[in-house]
Amino acid sequence: MSPEDRFDALIEADERIEPTDPMPDEYRRTLIRQIAQHAHSEIIGMQPEGNWITRAPSLRRKAVLLAKVQDEAGHGLYLYGAAETLGVDRAELLDLLHAGRQRYSSIFNYPTLTWADVGAIGWLVDGAAIMNQIPLCRCSYGPYARAMVRICKEESFHQRQGFELMLELSQGTESQREMAQDALNRWWWPSVMMFGPPDVDSPHTERSMAWGIKRFTNDELRQRFVDQTVPQADLLGLEIPDPELRWNEERGSYDFGEPDWGEFKRVISGGGLCNRQRLATRVDAHEDGAWVREAAAAHAAKVAARAAEAAA
Ligand SMILES: [Fe+2]
Ligand SMILES: [Fe+2]
Repeated sequence: MSPEDRFDALIEADERIEPTDPMPDEYRRTLIRQIAQHAHSEIIGMQPEGNWITRAPSLRRKAVLLAKVQDEAGHGLYLYGAAETLGVDRAELLDLLHAGRQRYSSIFNYPTLTWADVGAIGWLVDGAAIMNQIPLCRCSYGPYARAMVRICKEESFHQRQGFELMLELSQGTESQREMAQDALNRWWWPSVMMFGPPDVDSPHTERSMAWGIKRFTNDELRQRFVDQTVPQADLLGLEIPDPELRWNEERGSYDFGEPDWGEFKRVISGGGLCNRQRLATRVDAHEDGAWVREAAAAHAAKVAARAAEAAA
């Protein structure tokens, strides 16, 4: 069987492609781009919430938020590891991020103005992330699919801690309820846009679906997210800021308004409120960590030399 036939047969049988299997260059490139973008989003995503760790209102909330932000660092780690199985070095990927040549999710270019934003991010942003990521546990590329299984378990904790925070605020004082509503107003549309452009403007969707990288289209996932989230907002007694939102009996789904795709494009191409700040903070953190990488590399070299000596 030729390498091409073997790849096609594995995809056809819905089996996993492993790092040593033959794969088309374009499949490899697509995955590197997608996994890198995903890894970058995890670590940049630590910033908006990390901003609130020192101001968490109780010890319990601080511990929960710390754990969540650390989880996101871990997600970045698994994903850079998964990308490396495709033959790239994570240092290369970080250089591309720092040079602005690879993207991360545009949601993290919005500011976190109040404590309620921590709740809204967990509830909506992590909620949307789970919706996107659960199908990735069945992605055709083995190392990516396996990384996603663990990530999804942690994301579900993130979503629940966010919802619980929103519940406490929405049942609290009038000003706490208002703060929760204000956070929902600001985070709703950016979250709906997290699924990417509408299917008609998403040129790679078809090929990614044929390769088993993607299992559902952007619009399908967006619809699921809306259908799942509206009853949760009802439970919170908060109002989703979309005048066109209504239950469609015939479709058994919610109809909803069109996001501002102009804003989406603007934020993606650098025009969001926090794009510069996020990237600058990331580059500073990387430069500050240079001594740690050097020390780790020196230690690894020593251990390897000692092992070689013992074996000689
Ligand atoms: Fe994550
Ligand atoms: Fe998360």
